[in-house]
Amino acid sequence: MRLDRFLSENGCGTRSEIKKELKKGAASVDGVLVSDGSVQLPPGAEVLWHGERIDTDPFVYYMLHKPAGVITATRDPRAETVLDLLPGMRRKDLYPVGRLDRDTEGLLLITNDGPLGHRLLAPGRHVDKVYEARVRGRVTERECRLFAEGLQVDEELTAMPARLELLRTDAKGEDVYSGVRVTIREGKYHQIKRMFAAVGMEVVYLKRISMGPLVLDDRLAPGESRRLTEEEITALKEL
Ligand code: URA
Repeated sequence: MRLDRFLSENGCGTRSEIKKELKKGAASVDGVLVSDGSVQLPPGAEVLWHGERIDTDPFVYYMLHKPAGVITATRDPRAETVLDLLPGMRRKDLYPVGRLDRDTEGLLLITNDGPLGHRLLAPGRHVDKVYEARVRGRVTERECRLFAEGLQVDEELTAMPARLELLRTDAKGEDVYSGVRVTIREGKYHQIKRMFAAVGMEVVYLKRISMGPLVLDDRLAPGESRRLTEEEITALKEL
């Protein structure tokens, strides 16, 4: 592929912008400055654009520790999105696999591998998703049983059996709070919040810990991301 086409496909600008930048020495191919956009890229070439490496892999996979306050969307003129958090990322074809609410934190997979994303989200696929939550109220065996039986959430949703585990309780003034771990196999809109609302409890904090074989890396602070390892990509593909 020609260098200028490669750069424009990877979001570096329009053809004419790229031409100008190339003249100024913005690109190097395998360590050599290249100002001619018609140069053909050798297979596996390392292209730097303003000093940043441009991915030549057809598919890329990132794990993001989504912070609260950021929306799960590709682009938004008014709000910060999860894609704005990937540093130096110019690719236009990336998208988040599944949604976390604006106030939910935790594991989010971001990729341009459409078929993999579809497989993970397919309604019949039932990939386990584990969340930690803090809820207002005292979680007892009753709630654990109701979740395990398949909770009738509202007229629209009867949840599949889910695992609810009590991790701790604490009190703040008059209120009791429970720290819990919940494992669900679906991903309906506001699912965890609606499930707790159905048993009379409010979720005040929610964080996704894992999705299938992918576990949030505890070295990632909220807002940080990293590429998936080969092992993680293979495990996702084997699902
Ligand atoms: N369930 C919710 O209620 N919100 C999320 O963000 C994810 C699961």
